[in-house]
Amino acid sequence: MTKEKPILVISSGAGISAESGIKTFRDADGLWENYPVMQVASADGFRANPALVHQFYNERRKQLIHAQPNDAHRILVELEKDYDVYVITQNVDDLHERAGSSKVLHLHGELMKIRSVSDPDYIESLDIEHLETSPETRGRRGDLMRPHIVFFQEPVPMIEEAARIVSMADIFVVIGTSLVVYPAAGLLQCVRPGVPIYYIDPNPASTAGVSDVTVIRKTASQGLRELKDILEKGK
Ligand code: APR
Repeated sequence: MTKEKPILVISSGAGISAESGIKTFRDADGLWENYPVMQVASADGFRANPALVHQFYNERRKQLIHAQPNDAHRILVELEKDYDVYVITQNVDDLHERAGSSKVLHLHGELMKIRSVSDPDYIESLDIEHLETSPETRGRRGDLMRPHIVFFQEPVPMIEEAARIVSMADIFVVIGTSLVVYPAAGLLQCVRPGVPIYYIDPNPASTAGVSDVTVIRKTASQGLRELKDILEKGK
């Protein structure tokens, strides 16, 4: 009978991928790679100009395949030795998976996947040779396909599962998110009373009203190195 590992739940945002060279959203005053976010990441934007949205995500995929996981992603994998680690991410990149995290839940979709316009449960993975899509792209089944991204103005199907996971946490760590986008930001409310929360961000949002929060005002990799020491000492 192996000793149960404590459950460590991570909630990561764009900040954890910043050190991999992927721009965050709000550090560029609401522009995402020079596009207004609502033009390329909302249901209205997709209806208005699907070709632009497909092109935008084609550009993001080309950027992503040249990006590598950074130390922050790798430290989360190392923590799996001593903890049952669940990663809940707002990021659509696959850097957590490429670093080796074994349990990753994407709240806002996945850049390297596309899904049927008419059947959201029909999803296909893109490979390096076929990164580009257009409004005319069809899947193997013949469906017209779209980026597998949760646009603004669309529901977040995985939020209930994410809340269930957070409610099991023995430790909850928020990394690199401005905590402005709901329902993701609301996961803080799902932590059981008394469970320690750590928030790693060089420019952290206010966590007023949330108890048991330790803010580590550092980058993701520096902050996770510090957290690893804190957890080691606390064992
Ligand atoms: N290490 C850690 N955090 C960092 C770093 C870094 N090196 N650099 C920046 N940050 C922090 C910023 O201080 C900020 O708090 O990362 C956060 C990035 O915030 P946002 O750009 O708002 O990204 P995020 O919170 O993930 O956005 C949420 O909004 O645009 C939508 O769907 C999109 O998933 C995204 C959601």
